[in-house]
Amino acid sequence: MGLDTLFVGHTVINLDKVDSTNTYIHELLLKKAPAEGFVVCALEQYAGRGQRGNSWLSQPGTNLTFSILFEPRFLSPSNQFWLTKALALGVAEFVLSVIPAESVKIKWPNDIYVNDRKIAGILVENTLETSAIKFSIAGIGLNVNQESFDPLLKNVTSLKVLTGNSFDLSTCLEYICISIERYYLKLRGSDYKEIDDLYHKLLYRKDVLSRLSLNNRGFEGVIKGVLSNGHLLIDVKKDNEMTGNNVMEVSDVKHLVFL
Ligand code: BTN
Repeated sequence: MGLDTLFVGHTVINLDKVDSTNTYIHELLLKKAPAEGFVVCALEQYAGRGQRGNSWLSQPGTNLTFSILFEPRFLSPSNQFWLTKALALGVAEFVLSVIPAESVKIKWPNDIYVNDRKIAGILVENTLETSAIKFSIAGIGLNVNQESFDPLLKNVTSLKVLTGNSFDLSTCLEYICISIERYYLKLRGSDYKEIDDLYHKLLYRKDVLSRLSLNNRGFEGVIKGVLSNGHLLIDVKKDNEMTGNNVMEVSDVKHLVFL
C-alpha cells in the first residue's frame, strides 16, 4: 500500500469474500506469524461478527470491513480498555476528518456515532498472557458508501448518507490506518492523559441528562465518565435531583440502552 505509517498497513491482504476478517487473522496466527500492523480487508463478510455475539451486516463492496493485528505486550490485561479507547479515537479522528466536529461521538465503549446514528463499530479480540496482551485483533466496520440499510438496523448511517459523496475505499483505509496508528503510538508512548481527555471529550451523551434502561429498568441519569477498567459511571437521578451521591458503575454494555 506504500502507507505513511510506521507499521500499520504495511502488509494488506485484500479479499473478495471471507467469513470474518477477525477470524481470518485468528486462523492465520495458528499457522504463521504475521508482523504487527498486518491488515486484512474484505469486500464481503458472510459471517461478520459484532460485539456481544451480534453479527455485523454490511452491504458487499460498499463499506470498509477490515482487521488489524497488534501486539500490545506493553499493556497488562487489566489495562486492556486503554487499547479500546485508542482504537475508538483513531476511527473517530478519521470520521472527524470527513464530518463536522461537533456531531462525531464515541458511544461507550467504542461505537462511533454521528448525530445519534452509528457509523462504525469496533470488535477488539485480545489474546492474554498472565502479565501482558500477546495479540490484539482490532476489527473495524465503517459504513462508507452504503445508502440504505436493513430496517432491522436502527439508527445507522454512512459517510455517503451524511455527505452525499462517495468515497474510495482504499483511500479511506489508508487514512484510517494512519489515524489508528497515531493513537496506538500515543498509547505505546504512555500518553494516557491525552487519550483519556480526548475519549471523554468525545464521549456520547456525557454530562447530559439521559433516559436510560439497564436490564429493562428505565431511569434517568447523567453519564459522568468511564473508569480505566472500562466501566461506565452514571449519576442516577433520584427524587428529581442529581446528587452525585448515587453514582452507579456499569460494566455490562449489553443491557444498557439509551431510550
Ligand atoms: C460492533 O459494533 O458490534 C463491532 C462491529 C465490528 C465489525 C468488524 S467488520 C471487520 C471485523 N470482522 C468482523 O467479523 N467484525 C469486525
